[in-house]
Amino acid sequence: MSYVIGIDLGTSAVKALLVDRNGTVAAEASRSYPLFHEHTGWSEQRSDDWVDASVEALRELTSTAGIEASAIEGISFSGQMHGLVLLDGEGNPVRNAILWNDTRTTEQCREIERTLGDKLLSVTRNPALEGFTLPKILWVRQYEPEAFVQAKLFLLPKDYLRYRLTGQLHMDYSDAAGTLMLDVAGKEWSGEVLEAFALPASFCPPLIESHGLVGTVLPQIAERTGLPATTKVFAGGADNACGAIGSGILSEGLTLCSIGTSGVILSYENDKTKDFAGKVHFFNHGKQDSFYAMGVTLAAGYSLSWFKKTFAPNESFDQMLDGVGKVKPGAGGLLFTPYLVGERTPHADSAIRASFIGVDGSHERIHFARAVMEGITFSLNESVDMFRRAGKTVDTIISIGGGAQNPVWLQMQADIFNATVVALENEQGPGLGAAMLAAYGSGWFDSLESCADKFVKHADSYSPQPEAAAAYEGIFKIYQQVYEQTRGLNEALAPYRG
Ligand code: XUL
Repeated sequence: MSYVIGIDLGTSAVKALLVDRNGTVAAEASRSYPLFHEHTGWSEQRSDDWVDASVEALRELTSTAGIEASAIEGISFSGQMHGLVLLDGEGNPVRNAILWNDTRTTEQCREIERTLGDKLLSVTRNPALEGFTLPKILWVRQYEPEAFVQAKLFLLPKDYLRYRLTGQLHMDYSDAAGTLMLDVAGKEWSGEVLEAFALPASFCPPLIESHGLVGTVLPQIAERTGLPATTKVFAGGADNACGAIGSGILSEGLTLCSIGTSGVILSYENDKTKDFAGKVHFFNHGKQDSFYAMGVTLAAGYSLSWFKKTFAPNESFDQMLDGVGKVKPGAGGLLFTPYLVGERTPHADSAIRASFIGVDGSHERIHFARAVMEGITFSLNESVDMFRRAGKTVDTIISIGGGAQNPVWLQMQADIFNATVVALENEQGPGLGAAMLAAYGSGWFDSLESCADKFVKHADSYSPQPEAAAAYEGIFKIYQQVYEQTRGLNEALAPYRG
């Protein structure tokens, strides 16, 4: 049997999956690394922590999986998107990486809007959001000129990891799409954007397809990881693109709901001219010459882990959620908006904060827990609603991530989205998508679709229950009003935040 490895470089940890030709995960290993929040809204990581953690995880895979390392043919990556890694002329990072969930760049976003005008949407196909990469580059140039002067090239997180494993500099289209510097439909770095901000073309790495072969692992990496020096390395993709690949979202009409730290609703798109007027993200897919539209809830799983950390620190998620299915839809009139760290879709607003509305003396902690799950799902439903309004059919949604671990939450998704929700067997999310890119790149399959036919296995499916769906339709309309009604209050409270 031969194997490939998919590496999922996440925000809190890296996970490496060893996958055989049938799509079965033969072994997995993961390592975590710290996040640094030096100031409110800042979120950074040390780029070399990603490399050390990945090398350790690979070492564990090769030494404990009980297979001949020579059977490992290829490796590819899924990466947290948008994070800025600046390299000096020697290929060393000039400062910590600034991550996707860092919101310090509001001023730079306004500058990008003023400078690019209509070009922002017509070329990059996306609005200027704090999380994206170009605002971070402008922030470093403005506030850390001594670091910026050393910076010769930028990379995204998984591109830095791949660079350290192979010595080769590249970026794939699906991740480059989240920089605000790519001409998304034209699949090239935008000369117009680079010129507008006086950035040289040499600041951007060469572009490559996600299944594209980059090279083999460096001899010293082969030695440290136990991988054969012949292991082929394929470019990989953005975590959301890889999540879509790993869930078989490879043709028109398929939609993904992924609830991790952040949550996304992602819909496959063939038509590069499709115009969502910047209301949702429009990115290149990891499948060649295809695209996806995506709405993002910044604090999805994060809302529930915040709730657990704050109100049930000594319980497991299962203990905390025990009985949540017995609380009726609507959580007894309690409504939660998941704006703990601001929001992206449909309200790109880094200042808005979360609310519980309708707290009643009869509510117990379990009502609050249910309201948090519902609020996260309502937020994701804003994206489903937007896709439907833009004429897309959303009738079947593949659900992955934390939201797919709990049958009550899966049924809630079906009821709130008013669509059939399908869970996956042995779901592995973006890591499996990365392994599929390596399997396709290695020539095991003639297309990503035929790889998905073998690797992606559907499990239970959940249909909307008419009574619950009708209740949620009404509550969703109330939910949609909370943003406008609480915006001014949150602005007024901002100076009192820590
Ligand atoms: C997408 C986004 C997040 C990160 C999480 O635009 O910012 O989903 O990719 O890793």
